[in-house]
Amino acid sequence: MTTQAQVRTYEVITYGCQMNVHDSERISGLLDTAGLVRVDPAASDALGAGADVVVFNTCAVRENADNRLYGNLGHLAPVKAGHPGMQIAVGGCMAQKDRDTIVAKAPWVDVVFGTHNVGALPRLLERARVEREAQIEIKEALETFPSNLPSRRESPYSAWVSVSVGCNNTCTFCIVPTTRGKEHDRRPGDILAEIRRCVDEGAKEVTLLGQNVNAWRAPVDGDGGEMADFAFLLECVHDIPGIERIRYTTSHPREMTQRVVDAYARLPKLVSHLHLPVQAGSDRVLAAMKRGYTVLEYKSLVRRLRAARPDISLSSDFIVGFPGETEADFEATMKLIEELGFDTSFSFVYSSRPGTPAADLPDDTPQDVKLARLARLQKRIEAHAATISAGMVGSVQRILVEGPSKKDPNELAGRTDNNRVVNFAGNPRLIGHFVDVNIVSALPHSLRGEIVTRD
Ligand code: SAM
Ligand code: SF4
Ligand code: F3S
Repeated sequence: MTTQAQVRTYEVITYGCQMNVHDSERISGLLDTAGLVRVDPAASDALGAGADVVVFNTCAVRENADNRLYGNLGHLAPVKAGHPGMQIAVGGCMAQKDRDTIVAKAPWVDVVFGTHNVGALPRLLERARVEREAQIEIKEALETFPSNLPSRRESPYSAWVSVSVGCNNTCTFCIVPTTRGKEHDRRPGDILAEIRRCVDEGAKEVTLLGQNVNAWRAPVDGDGGEMADFAFLLECVHDIPGIERIRYTTSHPREMTQRVVDAYARLPKLVSHLHLPVQAGSDRVLAAMKRGYTVLEYKSLVRRLRAARPDISLSSDFIVGFPGETEADFEATMKLIEELGFDTSFSFVYSSRPGTPAADLPDDTPQDVKLARLARLQKRIEAHAATISAGMVGSVQRILVEGPSKKDPNELAGRTDNNRVVNFAGNPRLIGHFVDVNIVSALPHSLRGEIVTRD
C-alpha cells in the first residue's frame, strides 16, 4: 500500500522594486512547477511562518531594506526549530550583495541564491534537503536572459514583462548596478512572444520592466541586425492585438529620446502617466549624483512630453539629504516640485550604501534636518496628488477592473491611467475588462466611482 506524500507548501516574501515583484512571480511559478503549493494565507503569518518553504526575495537599495532581512530571519529561527523539514531561502539583491554572510549570520538558512540564479532555486532546495547543508549559488553576471521561466502572475489581466535586467549607469548613491549587474537587453522577438502569450492568458495591460527600461536597444533580426530602440519596441507592443494599455518602468530622463517623447503623440495605448525619477532639483546635487542631466534639461523634457500628451501625469523619485545637500539645494528641489506639479512620488532620505562612491563623500547634515526636509517635501507632493485626485471628481475615467475591492469585497476595484485605485459597485463579470467610471469622490488613497458604460 502506498501513502500519498504530503504536498509541501511555500510562501514568497517580496521587498523592493517591481523587478523583484516580477522575479517573485517567477519564483512562485518555479515552485508550482516543482509540485509545491502556495500556503493558505490563513495557515501562515505575514513572514511565511506556517509554510514548509519560505523564500525571501530581498532588496538592498537602502539600509533599512537591508536590515529587515535579518529581523525576519530571526523571527523564523524558532519557527523552523519547531517545524521539521522547513526550509528558508534568501534571494534577491541582499543575497547577491551579502552572499556567505547570510548563512554566517543566520545558520538556519538553507539556500542563498543570487539575482541571476532564480531558475536554480528548486534544485538548490532539493540539494539542501538531501545534503543537509546550506547551498549558496551566486553568479557574478547574467549569461542568458531568463526568458522561459514559468511565472505565477499576480494578475492575469495586467502582466509584467521584463525587457532588460541590470543597469550600465553609475549613479553615485546606487547599489543596483552591483546587485543586478550590467544591463542585458532581451531580444525583441522574445519580448513580443511573451506579451502575446500573456494576451492568450487574458492580459489587456502590459508593463514593460527594466531598471533603465528606456535604454533598451537590441538588434531587430538577431546579432548583426539593425538596432531597434525603445520607441520601436513600444510601437511593436502597440501593434499586438488584445493589448489595450501599455506602461513601462523605470525610465531614466537621460534615455528619454525625442522618438520616445513622440510616441506619446502617436500611440494611444501608451498611458497618460510616466514615472520619471528626477532625484533632486539642484544641478550641483544632480552632478554629484552623476545623473547625467541638468534641471533645465529635465524641465525641457517634461515640456516636450506635455506638448506630445497634454494630459500626461508625472510621478518621480526623490532622494533628500544627499551628502553635501545644502538648504539652497533642497529649496531648488522644492521649487522644481512646485513648477512641475508631480503626482504621487517616492521619496526617501539618502541612505549610505557601502561600496558606492557617495558613501565616501563628506556628509555633515544632521539626520533630523534631513528628516524635516523629507517631511516637508512629502507634504507638498501629497498636497499636489490630492489636488490631482480632487480634479478628477466629475471626470469619466477608463479603468481596468482588477478584482474585488480591498475595502469592500462586495465592490470592484480597478486602476486609472494615472495609477489610482477606483472602488465602485459592479457585476463581478466586469473583472478583467476596461470600463468607464464617473469619479464621484476623492479619498486620500483611492477614488470612488460609478459605472458609466462597459466595453
Ligand atoms: N533606475 C531608476 C532611476 O534611475 O531612477 C531607479 C531605481 S532605484 C532601485 C529606485 C529608487 O531608489 C531611486 O530612484 C532612488 O530614488 C532610490 N534610491 C536608490 N539608492 C538610494 C539610496 N542610497 N538612498 C536613498 N534612496 C535611494
Ligand atoms: Fe541605480 Fe542610477 Fe541605474 Fe537607476 S539609473 S538603477 S539609480 S545606477
Ligand atoms: Fe531593491 Fe534590487 Fe530592486 S536593490 S530596488 S530589489 S533592483
